Amino acid sequence: MKLTTNCSGLNGSLSVPGDKSISHRSIMFGAVSQGTTTIHNFLRADDCLGTMEIFKQLGVPIEDDGETITVTGVGFAGLTPPETALDVGNSGTTIRLLMGVLAGSPHTYTLTGDESIQKRPMNRVMLPLNEMGAACSGKDGSEFPPITLTGNSALSPISYQLPVASAQVKSALLFAALQSTGESVIIEKAPTRDHTEEMIRQFGGRIAVDGKEIRLSGPQQLTGQTVIVPGDISSAAFFIAAALLIPDSVVTVTNVGLSHSRSGIIDVVRQMGGDIEISDQDDKNQSGTLTIRTSQLNGIEIGGDIIPRLIDEIPVIALLATQAKGRTVIRDAEELKVKETDRIAAVTEELNALGARITATDDGMIIEGATALHSGRVSSHGDHRIGMMLQIAALLVSDGPVALSKAEAVSVSYPDFFQDLATLF
Ligand code: S3P
Repeated sequence: MKLTTNCSGLNGSLSVPGDKSISHRSIMFGAVSQGTTTIHNFLRADDCLGTMEIFKQLGVPIEDDGETITVTGVGFAGLTPPETALDVGNSGTTIRLLMGVLAGSPHTYTLTGDESIQKRPMNRVMLPLNEMGAACSGKDGSEFPPITLTGNSALSPISYQLPVASAQVKSALLFAALQSTGESVIIEKAPTRDHTEEMIRQFGGRIAVDGKEIRLSGPQQLTGQTVIVPGDISSAAFFIAAALLIPDSVVTVTNVGLSHSRSGIIDVVRQMGGDIEISDQDDKNQSGTLTIRTSQLNGIEIGGDIIPRLIDEIPVIALLATQAKGRTVIRDAEELKVKETDRIAAVTEELNALGARITATDDGMIIEGATALHSGRVSSHGDHRIGMMLQIAALLVSDGPVALSKAEAVSVSYPDFFQDLATLF
């Protein structure tokens, strides 16, 4: 695909599609609750539509009238195994959370996905779930999908210190803990997105969080709710970056999810000297409007506990750093290597192909700025966030074309990304 290049002055207001993490969870919580769950602003993109299909295959009635999604809960015990494997496509959130959901179901399931999923580590979920009494194993004794999972209706609770900062692992264990008998204690390595904890409360469950320590006593029965999904800050991040970098821009993004556990990019942008203003803050829905203006940016150091709060935004933060004055160091982000693709390698390779000066490190990147970007051929590596970041990079290129291969990957989280961006030209 030929990307749009040589852009000046982005102006306008838009809203981004619903949050991916919350959309996945809204289907899952709706399915395992009793009663009806109604979901507004559900993300209709490949990953979350895939989750919806899987729960239909598991026997959960789900209706989509084009506006709202209605899930008729069957409870954990009402899930039934389909004849065929459950295919999560590209979605790590689906496969990992699903393992926790199915851990208490006394049937055997096969969970598989695309080429990327078949390379992603699953021991982080399988080992603690097996300790609770489930039986999960990967392909040919490995930790990789396809996963065979036999659940256990008498799961034991777990006391577990997470070896990685991962909301997916934490959430899988919380779904299993909801089905076990007794108190589970989960201690995070660093605080990660807390949508699962928030939704357990919203659906009438009980959970105690004290810093990095989470306590949950099972079994618990949840009750269907109305879920209003805010816009995804991870999608808004591409417009934040575009507005900061393209001269003479003022862009407003409305209804953006601003959970503290996800808003690290706002802190980083401000620290770099970026002009980003929050208005219309809705504390109940944890959302608000962002107004971003073109800014001179400075390099900074990013590491420690902020990393999980911006983990999915690091590709676009790296792009910002290529245009910032001085050096930016990103560290403590080794988890990037096991995302949809190795994002440290992909960001370094692709932005350097356009003229950036990035050195990959074991746990992040060192980025020298500011460098002018030039024309070239790049690839998304089949990773939606790499693809969208490269389109924003291309907007800065004025000496020729930028061609992106595997551009279709953006449909994983943002099918209308290119069209929405075009409304700002
Ligand atoms: C997610 C958690 C993060 C994030 C992913 C979505 C979630 O992954 O990168 O895009 O919805 O729980 P990890 O839990 O592997 O860090």
